[in-house]
Amino acid sequence: MNFKTSSDTQAELDMSKLPVHVAIIMDGNGRWAKKRLANRVKGHEQGLETVRVIVRACREIGIRFLTLYAFSTENWQRPKAEVMALMMLLKMFLKSELKEMQDNNIRLTAIGQTERLPDDVRSLLYETMRLTEKNTGLRLNLALSYGGRSEIVKAVQEIAVKAKSGELDPSEISPEVIAEHLYTKDMPDPDLMIRTSGEMRISNFLLWQLAYSELFITDTLWPDFTREELVEILKDYQRRDRRYGKV
Ligand code: FPP
Repeated sequence: MNFKTSSDTQAELDMSKLPVHVAIIMDGNGRWAKKRLANRVKGHEQGLETVRVIVRACREIGIRFLTLYAFSTENWQRPKAEVMALMMLLKMFLKSELKEMQDNNIRLTAIGQTERLPDDVRSLLYETMRLTEKNTGLRLNLALSYGGRSEIVKAVQEIAVKAKSGELDPSEISPEVIAEHLYTKDMPDPDLMIRTSGEMRISNFLLWQLAYSELFITDTLWPDFTREELVEILKDYQRRDRRYGKV
């Protein structure tokens, strides 16, 4: 037989060289819907199906941290109906996946201005985070109402308050001190950042944390993204020579 099952493909991965943290900009839901002459919300619904597939794949492969860019600070400016639909999908996801998360030791966390989320979404999010906080397997980290610049501004403000009160001397401000004031303080930086649907941009995602990440941009629209393509990207990552600016 000459076809490969997904577990065969996975077996080709070098388990000692897996990225610890994978971050994804899930782009292209709108274009996926447009190609089908459907409403943009249909694209987000299909995008949510891909989220389920990719979370499961990452858990099975053994990725430790998965950060998904689900909603940016700029996304609040989309039409109200689309914002509401995205919030509803987030609620659906949190409700429908709780059992899957508990059964599979997945811990859910979030980064971003989560205080801006509607009350019902925010309380369900915090409740899911609380219920899964002791889980030690995959850490599924949702970027929600997230913007990289706002995150850095928030960190600078907190550090300035400490400097003003004398808790911290300005000469002690280092990259480590800044990192400790970011939403991601208890996570390693992403080793690999994937963006779907071909745009060559970072779009205000993890600006500080992506400094040395390997980038992979695929033309595939997020609703069409598959486990098989993820595995191919991981294989590509494993062939790369990460030098962190050194020789
Ligand atoms: C970008 O596509 C995608 C988003 C703004 C939202 C991402 C949301 C999902 C994948 C579904 C919900 C996910 C969770 C975790 C609940 P776009 O609309 O910008 O696409 P376009 O650039 O083709 O218009």
